[in-house]
Amino acid sequence: MKKSFISLSLLFFYVFSFAQNSTEISIIPEPVSVVKNDGYFVLPQSVSVDMPASAELREVANILKERFSAPTGYSVTINSKPTEGATIQLSLNKTADKVLGSEGYNLSVTSKTISIKANQPAGLFYGVQTLLQLFPKEIESKSPVKNISWQAPAVTVTDYPRFGWRGLMFDVSRHFFTKQEVKDFIDNMVRYKFNLLHWHLTDDEGWRIEIKSLPKLTQVGAWNVKRVGTFGTFDIPSPSEPRDYGGFYTQEDIKEVIQYAKERFVNILPEVDVPGHSLAAITAYPELSCSGGVGNNGVSSGQEIKDWSHHVALVDDNLCPANENVYVFLDKVITEIAQLFPFEYIHMGGDETFKTFWEKSDAVKQLMQKNKLKNMEEVQSYFGKRVEKIVESKGKKFMGWDEVLEGGLAPNAVVMSWRGMKGGIEAAKMGHEVVMSPSTFVYIDYMQGDKISEPPVYATLRLNKTYQFEPVPDGVDAKYIKGGQANLWTEQIYNTRHLQYMVWPRGLAVAESVWSPKEKKNWSSFAKKVENNFGRMDIEQIKYARTMFDPIFNVKKDAKDSLLVDLSTEVEGLDIYYSFDNSHPDNFYPKYSSPLSIPKEAVMLKVITYRDGKPIGRQIDMPISELKKRAGAKGE
Ligand code: ACM
Repeated sequence: MKKSFISLSLLFFYVFSFAQNSTEISIIPEPVSVVKNDGYFVLPQSVSVDMPASAELREVANILKERFSAPTGYSVTINSKPTEGATIQLSLNKTADKVLGSEGYNLSVTSKTISIKANQPAGLFYGVQTLLQLFPKEIESKSPVKNISWQAPAVTVTDYPRFGWRGLMFDVSRHFFTKQEVKDFIDNMVRYKFNLLHWHLTDDEGWRIEIKSLPKLTQVGAWNVKRVGTFGTFDIPSPSEPRDYGGFYTQEDIKEVIQYAKERFVNILPEVDVPGHSLAAITAYPELSCSGGVGNNGVSSGQEIKDWSHHVALVDDNLCPANENVYVFLDKVITEIAQLFPFEYIHMGGDETFKTFWEKSDAVKQLMQKNKLKNMEEVQSYFGKRVEKIVESKGKKFMGWDEVLEGGLAPNAVVMSWRGMKGGIEAAKMGHEVVMSPSTFVYIDYMQGDKISEPPVYATLRLNKTYQFEPVPDGVDAKYIKGGQANLWTEQIYNTRHLQYMVWPRGLAVAESVWSPKEKKNWSSFAKKVENNFGRMDIEQIKYARTMFDPIFNVKKDAKDSLLVDLSTEVEGLDIYYSFDNSHPDNFYPKYSSPLSIPKEAVMLKVITYRDGKPIGRQIDMPISELKKRAGAKGE
């Protein structure tokens, strides 16, 4: 009796400690090395933090204070000199540790103390982010949480990034997001050690940055007509509809956001997208287009302005490469942007320039003759090279989407590869710097689950595909690949909650692809960490998509040409229950085990995933008519 009591308690002990261990270390992005030691550090009620008194760390001190005091209610004191018995010690290495570089850190948590060492302030900041992820998820609360033991497991972490360019692109043109929303975006990205915000500031739907020498860009170009529904299908606004939707950042706003980002070790890459995607600028200054603004009904409000299947522009949204005033205009824009943004690169777009109106332009024909340009790609290349010269004359480096390769790349251009990895590979082989942001892996504006249950976008990119993002393709010299980034286009993103839903958790997958060692990436442990992280985001009140738990539908035909429905899931260990009788399935319904034949008169297949007897995915209602359609046409 006694013996069995002892073994039962031992069993309980093992199960309990396993349960703790299996969830307690769950750091995203995965560090280079984590060694778990015995014991825990328990936060005292009076937290004392030593950190160097450096201007670069002033805001880190405030962040640290807030992040520890808000959820615990404890007092947090920052000491600028080493203090006896300090709870957390942040220090800069006197002699640089070569392994850590400029952003790496060593973190040590013992039962007595916490220390973070780095070569540079950025490393200390990232060490703090890791440390916070070691504490219980309630550490994300903005108000005091009672009855929690604020403990972190004893660990030794050595960590540094794989790439120096770890980006997220934020399109504030298609829908405008306020200065505060941009700051919130930065706050969320730095938790996962992103260090670059690519700010897409201009497009057909709005010009968002004040250019003092060209006031109409924002007086006219920042405003369209509010539309809600499916972007690209809206009616052309009538002249009487108010153009009061949109907004822009003043130069003071821009400076404030740059400073906010800097304090969090984030560089901001400004993008002015030219010569295409320029309807906002052309509406303000119609003389900048070759046609004078054919088809222009004002800054786009999301109506159809391009025929995507035939690559034809219905409205002239291109700057005119044959008009010298365009280069004068760009010089003014780039001068002010170069003065505002300290980052060494300026992104000048170059994507999706449909040549419809250039082809009809006599001025472009003359330009081609004069400069011996053989085709429209060479015309765009001529434009790109001229713009590169302007950018370089302001002391900056010119960057463009991979279309800038067509017709001949400008001599020093940095290429951002988005139409897959192909453009990046080509540019790297030519010895150009490259940032990888392929739509095939990191277009986080795409749907992340079945289109039947997601807000409509024209393509799908699931979390597990995003996780496969590998910025350095085989056969390419890694030294040319600066890193990678995910792109968040906002045609279909109307508000900040939906923005978060689109970024997370795919942003976590990208964070791991650009920070963690390649050999440390592992889908199933990542999926578990994502789930733990959802608990944190719930407390932080950040919205995220749970689509990784949704069932995936694939339809095929059997030998007799009848439909078979194959169901699967992205993450392991889920049970799928289904119904064909229109009722809502639960875990008392049939459990999916092999491809399903569809009952003759069924109209709907309803499916839901469970784990350990609890629903975990959403119920998805799939019309049989939709499955039949898919059996005819491939894809989701
Ligand atoms: C792009 O997605 N048009 C760069």
